[in-house]
Amino acid sequence: MSQAKKVTGIHVKGIGKYVPEMVATNEDFAKIVDTSDEWITQRTGIKTRHITNGEPTYYLGAKAAKAAIADAGISPEDIDLIITATVTPDFFTPSTACLIQREIGAVGSMAIDINCACTGFDYGIDMARRYLLAEDGVDTVLLIAAEELSKFTDYTDRSSCILFGDGSAAFVLERKKDTLYSSYLGADGTGAKFLVSRAMRSENAFRTNKEEFDMDMPATKAHYFTQDGKEVYKFATRTLPIAVEKACEKAGIAPEDLDAIVPHQANVRIIETAAKNLGVSMDKMVVYIDRYGNTSSASIPIAFCDAVAEGRIRRGDKVCLVGFGGGLTYAGIVFEY
Ligand code: ACO
Repeated sequence: MSQAKKVTGIHVKGIGKYVPEMVATNEDFAKIVDTSDEWITQRTGIKTRHITNGEPTYYLGAKAAKAAIADAGISPEDIDLIITATVTPDFFTPSTACLIQREIGAVGSMAIDINCACTGFDYGIDMARRYLLAEDGVDTVLLIAAEELSKFTDYTDRSSCILFGDGSAAFVLERKKDTLYSSYLGADGTGAKFLVSRAMRSENAFRTNKEEFDMDMPATKAHYFTQDGKEVYKFATRTLPIAVEKACEKAGIAPEDLDAIVPHQANVRIIETAAKNLGVSMDKMVVYIDRYGNTSSASIPIAFCDAVAEGRIRRGDKVCLVGFGGGLTYAGIVFEY
C-alpha cells in the first residue's frame, strides 16, 4: 500500500461551467463537409458540440466565473488573482482575464492570461497553487478556461472541424494545508509544428520576407487551425499515461488509488488507449466528449463540473486532471476534491 504525501495544496471552493446555447450535431456537419455521424462517432466519440452565435471568449469565461463564485459563496471582491487559460482570446490586449475581471467586478485583483493550449487548466492550477504557497497576499484565485475555438476552426477541413466546440469552466481555489497535491508539467517544443494556428500577419510597411523565421512550421490557411492528427494521436497516447503516473508517484499514490481521472477530451480512442496503457479501467475515466467535443483548455474543467453534478466525483475523492496539447505540452495534477 502506497503512502500518500501531505503537502500544502489546493482547496477547490467552487466550480462552474458555461456552454453556449447553440448545438451542432454530427448531422449538421454532414451538411457542410463530406462526413457522417457514423465516421465521427466511431473515430472520435463526439456526437454534439456547443458553438457560439457571436458570444465572445470573455463572455463565456465571465458566465463560468460567476457560476463558480456563486458556488464558492464568495464575493468577487474576495478574489486576489484571476488566471485565464485560453488559446482563443478576443484581443491581443487587453487580456481575457482583464475583461472577465471587469465583467464580474473583481475590483483590485491581479489578472493574467496563459496559453498552454489544451493543457492550460492544469498549468493554471499549478500556477495558482504556487501563488497560494507564497502566502504573500494571494489567498483566493479564480481560474478560468474559456475557449471559442469556432474562431479558428476551418469549416472546410473535415478532419479537424468536426472535433471542436466552444465553452468555459472555472474553479475558485484556496490554499489547503496537509492535503494531497502534486503536479507534473512538461513541454516539447520540437513538436510545435503538429498543432498550429497563426496570429494574423503584420502589415508593417517596413516588413521584409520573414519566412526564414518560420523554421519547419506548416503552411496554413491564414489563422485557421491545422494539425497533424496522427502525430498528435501518438503524442497523446504516449504522454497521457506518463503524466498520470508521474503525478501519482510525486503524490505517493498509485494510479489505481485514484477515484477519478479527468483527461483532456480530444478523442475517446486516445482516452481508451491511455487507460489500457495505464492499466486502469475506463470506469475511472471521466468522459463527456460526446456532449461537448474538444473545447481545448476548457475540456477538463467542463468534464469535472459534469462529473460533480452527476455524483461521479465527490468531496474527498482523489482526482487526477491530465492534459496534453499544442506546444506540445502535457501535465498531470493530483489533488483531493
Ligand atoms: N469524415 C469522414 N472521413 C474523414 C473525416 C471525416 N470528418 N476526416 C478524415 N476522414 C478520412 C480521411 O480523409 C482518410 O481518408 P483516406 O483513407 O481516403 O485518406 C480517412 O478518413 C482516415 O483518416 P485518418 O486521419 O487516418 O483518420 P484517423 O482515424 O487517424 O482519425 C483524427 C483522424 C480523428 C483527427 C485522429 O487522428 C485524431 O483524433 N487525432 C488526434 C488529434 C486531435 O485530437 N486533435 C485535436 C486538437 S489537439 C488536442 O486537443 C490535443
